[in-house]
Amino acid sequence: MDHLSLLLAILYVYTAPCEEISWDTTVKLAKNMSLECVYPLADSVTQIEWFKLKTERESVAIFNPMFRGIIREAYTDRVYFSNQTAASNDMTLTFYNASEADVGFYSCFLHTFPFGTWEKVIRVVPSDSFEDAGPPNSQMVSEPGENVTLTCQPKEKCLLEEMSWEKIQPQQIDVLISCNLSHGRSYTSKYPRQILSNCSHGMKKAFVTIPNVTGSDSGLYRCGFKASTGEKETFVMRLTVTDGETKTPYIPFVAGGAGFLLLLVILITTITVIAYKRRRRQQQRGPFKDFWITQNRAANNYRNTFPANPPSDGAGEDIYVNHPTFSRVPRARV
Ligand SMILES: *[C@@H]1O[C@H](CO)[C@@H](O)[C@H](O)[C@H]1NC(C)=O
Ligand SMILES: *[C@@H]1O[C@H](CO)[C@@H](O)[C@H](O)[C@H]1NC(C)=O
Ligand SMILES: *[C@@H]1O[C@H](CO)[C@@H](O)[C@H](O)[C@H]1NC(C)=O
Ligand SMILES: *[C@@H]1O[C@H](CO)[C@@H](O)[C@H](O)[C@H]1NC(C)=O
Ligand SMILES: *[C@@H]1O[C@H](CO)[C@@H](O)[C@H](O)[C@H]1NC(C)=O
Ligand SMILES: *[C@@H]1O[C@H](CO)[C@@H](O)[C@H](O)[C@H]1NC(C)=O
Ligand SMILES: *[C@@H]1O[C@H](CO)[C@@H](O)[C@H](O)[C@H]1NC(C)=O
Repeated sequence: MDHLSLLLAILYVYTAPCEEISWDTTVKLAKNMSLECVYPLADSVTQIEWFKLKTERESVAIFNPMFRGIIREAYTDRVYFSNQTAASNDMTLTFYNASEADVGFYSCFLHTFPFGTWEKVIRVVPSDSFEDAGPPNSQMVSEPGENVTLTCQPKEKCLLEEMSWEKIQPQQIDVLISCNLSHGRSYTSKYPRQILSNCSHGMKKAFVTIPNVTGSDSGLYRCGFKASTGEKETFVMRLTVTDGETKTPYIPFVAGGAGFLLLLVILITTITVIAYKRRRRQQQRGPFKDFWITQNRAANNYRNTFPANPPSDGAGEDIYVNHPTFSRVPRARV
């Protein structure tokens, strides 16, 4: 075992700069750019060194909780450790004024006790080659504390060779997991959060489970497939984790309620105004109407063609209710 890991380490050191380097995070070049490096486990970090990966590893800065940090000469006044708390496992390196010359690969290399060494590789790309996620293909809403599983399925039915999941932010893309399905081998990235996934051979569907989600897990997630034919497919999902106070679902309801109330007030006002106008109109022509009714009754030889009781529906309201004299006038005549 020891021989094997030593051999692998030697192979890595001698072959990595020549071969295609795989990375954990892609960062868009910006003046104020931060290369995030957070060690997720609880072991104590004994030393950390940042390198730029050129044909050789060029040391950028070194930090030791006992001796503090040293920025190498070529990077003096250009970078700083964002969080120099000795107890912190946050080794994030920030550039003050980055330029095109800072594009490339960086390694955050830690020695920890008792786990050993740990490395995160970050790729800095010019802003025009930083690929956007584009609009999401689907949406998902969750509450904090839930275990969220995102799944996606390739449209193509051919044999899949590679699968990957990424979290996409405006300034950086973190690889959550990538698998070589023909080997059934997975590469779990250095994302500072627990993610569960599966890379079994012959799989038809990809998933990641994000246990115990919080607001910071909100965002865009992208899954990608590469078929053995070389075809690639990607799906983008938006996960929204609510703030836990569940205020938002009530807003449309409250707005709806207020709208309904407003409608009711308008309706009542309209009815009142119409009723008032009609009453005014009828009061104005009241004597003529009473006259007409009287004449008509007389012409009908006292046959009461009007209902004895006023109808209870609103249709006859202004005739019968608004003329209390009506029932008396004919009788007085009889
Ligand atoms: C860069 O960072 C400094 C210090 O944190 C801040 O004052 C400044 O606004 C930032 N500039 C940009 C372009 O983000
Ligand atoms: C530094 O790390 C400590 C411990 O993880 C954390 O509490 C603090 O907020 C961090 N400070 C900054 C500026 O990120
Ligand atoms: C940032 O870098 C540019 C060129 O690389 C330089 O002209 C400018 O003065 C620098 N600004 C600061 C605040 O260091
Ligand atoms: C999330 O998963 C953990 C471990 O599988 C389980 O103990 C927990 O009950 C789950 N939580 C929810 C909200 O389903
Ligand atoms: C996955 O494994 C196959 C078979 O060994 C190999 O040809 C291919 O290059 C591997 N892909 C990656 C991304 O490592
Ligand atoms: C991954 O898939 C294999 C085969 O389908 C299954 O046996 C295993 O339990 C799965 N692991 C997880 C974490 O789902
Ligand atoms: C889930 O996250 C919350 C907030 O970060 C934490 O208080 C809680 O202990 C976590 N629960 C589990 C089961 O990890």
